[in-house]
Amino acid sequence: MKDQLEALRLEIERDVKAAGTLESLDEIETKYLGRKGDLTNLLKGLANVKAEERPLFGQMANQVKEFGLDLIAARREELNREKASKIAETERVDVTEPGIRPPEGHLHLMTQTIREITSIFEKIGFYRPRYPEIDWDYYAFESLNMPGDHPARDDWETFFMDAPVGTGKKQGKMVMTPHTSNAQAHELERHEFPVRMLSIGKCYRRQSDATHAPMFHQFEGLLVDKGVNLTHLRGILDYFAREFFGPGRVSRIRPHHFRFTEPSFEVDFSCGVCNATGMVNGQKCKLCKRGWLELGGAGMVHPNVLKASGVDPNKYSGFAFGWGIERLAMMKEGTRLDDIRILYQNDVRFLKQF
Ligand code: FA5
Repeated sequence: MKDQLEALRLEIERDVKAAGTLESLDEIETKYLGRKGDLTNLLKGLANVKAEERPLFGQMANQVKEFGLDLIAARREELNREKASKIAETERVDVTEPGIRPPEGHLHLMTQTIREITSIFEKIGFYRPRYPEIDWDYYAFESLNMPGDHPARDDWETFFMDAPVGTGKKQGKMVMTPHTSNAQAHELERHEFPVRMLSIGKCYRRQSDATHAPMFHQFEGLLVDKGVNLTHLRGILDYFAREFFGPGRVSRIRPHHFRFTEPSFEVDFSCGVCNATGMVNGQKCKLCKRGWLELGGAGMVHPNVLKASGVDPNKYSGFAFGWGIERLAMMKEGTRLDDIRILYQNDVRFLKQF
């Protein structure tokens, strides 16, 4: 039994030294020193040993066990240290390394277009005041020559606020501005000339289809000074056509009716795909269908609008225009949008194309 215990000790020593992983150490411990391990099996033989020799072998067996456990513990620590230093080598953190930037995205097509329009008009002296997007009926309609019961108001399909009715300039109900023309009276009331306003804002109408969104943007130009006439408006329209759409693009005006301008026009821009001919390779132009793209309204400021804000129409004159920004973006050749509402569905696959 003494020799067998000694042989077991040597086997344990050999195997523990050779063990290369923590898992194999666990296996060695179970194999030799576990409840059903080799040492336990060996001790079953004590029954055949003389009674006076049993304590000695019992003691020897305990020494082998302790020796084995100590050896395994030491090797375990060694392997743990090796593992830790390997991790430290491969997974070292360099705190001075620059961080990983999260993806930043980019500006929405509408914000890009608003910035582009702003810079085109700023170059010729227009400035951008901010006026409310929830305003009094007076500014949205009354001051624009549309009295309370005028049927022209119906075209604006307005959302009215559930708020107390006002008096004076805060007259009537509050509305979610159906157009940016509410800015005209606000700006004229300041009585600072020349007025060269570019008001950009959100507009709301009870409309929703491929070319109408319930929330959309307009930009409103207003130029009022002494001696302003229609030729100045024509000049600005052609300037904008060149700057926004590119060289060679021109504008045209068609008679129309607005209560707040006289005369009034619809403004079109020549189509860049068919060059204002309406045809591409013998087929109808897919973008414009007729050579021209409609953008919005314009006209010479109605004397009643000037008077409403205390401006003398015999001294001052001016023009105004109000155009849709979504429609403008849709008119650019590369945009190819066939439904305006997709702009506000927050689909990143769509948005990241622009
Ligand atoms: C107006 O809103 C006038 N205030 C424009 C104006 C200003 C005329 C100054 C004269 C002087 P209109 O309702 O046509 O006009 O709208 C102007 C443009 O806004 C339209 O041509 C279109 O480009 C855009 N627009 C109107 N409704 C919507 C809508 N629901 N969704 C997207 N764009 C729209």
